[in-house]
Amino acid sequence: MGAAWIALALGLALCASAEQQQQHERISGSAGDVLEDDPVGRLKVFVYELPVKYNRKVLEKDPRCLTHMFATEIFVHEFLLGSAVRTLNPEEADWFYTPVYTTCDLTRNGLPLPFKSPRMMRSVIQYISNQWPYWNRTEGADHFFVVPHDFGACFHYQEEKAIERGILHLLQRATLVQTFGQRYHVCLKEGSIVVPPYCPPQKMQAHLIPPSIPRSIFVYFRGLFYDYGNDPEGGYYARGARAAVWENFKDNPLFDISTEHPITYYEDMQRAIFCLCPLGWAPWSPRLVEGVIFGCIPVIIADDIVLPFADAIPWEEIGVFVAEKDVPKLDTILTSIPPEVILKKQRLLATPAMKQAMLFPQPAQPGDAFHQILNGLARKLPHDRRIYLNPGEKALNWSSGPPGDLKPCKRNTLDRESRNWHQLLQLLRHWCRVLLF
Ligand SMILES: *[C@@H]1O[C@H](CO)[C@@H](O)[C@H](O)[C@H]1NC(C)=O
Ligand SMILES: *[C@@H]1O[C@H](CO)[C@@H](O)[C@H](O)[C@H]1NC(C)=O
Repeated sequence: MGAAWIALALGLALCASAEQQQQHERISGSAGDVLEDDPVGRLKVFVYELPVKYNRKVLEKDPRCLTHMFATEIFVHEFLLGSAVRTLNPEEADWFYTPVYTTCDLTRNGLPLPFKSPRMMRSVIQYISNQWPYWNRTEGADHFFVVPHDFGACFHYQEEKAIERGILHLLQRATLVQTFGQRYHVCLKEGSIVVPPYCPPQKMQAHLIPPSIPRSIFVYFRGLFYDYGNDPEGGYYARGARAAVWENFKDNPLFDISTEHPITYYEDMQRAIFCLCPLGWAPWSPRLVEGVIFGCIPVIIADDIVLPFADAIPWEEIGVFVAEKDVPKLDTILTSIPPEVILKKQRLLATPAMKQAMLFPQPAQPGDAFHQILNGLARKLPHDRRIYLNPGEKALNWSSGPPGDLKPCKRNTLDRESRNWHQLLQLLRHWCRVLLF
């Protein structure tokens, strides 16, 4: 009981002073890049005009694509069409953008299917390389693609399969904008831009509570600890880290942790000091964005994670990083953080620029995640002259990759694949654990 009271008192004190001390400061990440940089004037992007079957038609078929956590691929397109960095003259473009919605193929239950993505991507690259001279000039090295699915351009929802596939060969020279970030992983290409998952800004805003309400919860977490369906023996899911949280702290009064997802989830995060962000099957989850938006210090438990916009956001200063093997010491680690350090983190989290960088609002706003993507692209300029191939020179092999990817995208093959019950069941399970954690 004593511990809970200390937490309450600490929460009250911290909350009040964080509000008072909030001030405007320019924020920069590990590479020293600044969150408030303005990309306008630093790059020009040419947006390919594509047949609607690659984007609008796909979305028309299933408008639910606008709200799932991979909706970034659609919103980036809309944003770029109206952006000041867009050029209609491809000759003066620094970057070429191909608006293809490879993640917008949902099952009846609303779960994204990645089966079609490789063929759709190959098909669209074929199209742009035939219609314009720019792809062949560099074979994609001055092109960027948004690939927000679990393992990015590896295009599979299961990690072993994703690793086996690797990044789609045709994208190997392109810059990828993706949510998946884990160092030393075949699905994270050097030079990729890691972005946050899409979290609906209006929905989060609707749950804001007055900042004067004290943070009376010390540690908060809602989600799975075990995934019995996919990992009956235990130990694979979250590499055991979530199980360790539960086993060690289920009875600790400082830890408000449970598998039950309350309707007050967003409000609870605003009443907590620390929010656990452990890996699940993937290293990231929307909790990271929620932590930042709701001012709850993210406790990141995912070795080798690459966080969104890490070059511009000082994650080390905002969050707390706990090695997966140190989970049993989580209570000691968190209670020994000095109050002034907690205050500093809360002050940084309270900065509007930090929250803005995590969101994809409509309409876009200065410093939001769209602008951070552009900043990332601008920082990669000028292109190395060596990306330009000699006329007739080839760097990519169009026939490499799993045979299934090379086939034209025929509807009946895909339907047969989706009708495969085992696969569908696995997919369902996968998405249940991602969406309902
Ligand atoms: C680009 O190269 C491919 C074959 O590698 C060729 O079929 C296509 O016509 C070329 N595109 C242009 C615009 O010349
Ligand atoms: C392209 O890849 C295919 C399939 O892996 C391989 O058989 C072929 O030899 C490769 N071609 C070149 C020119 O490397």
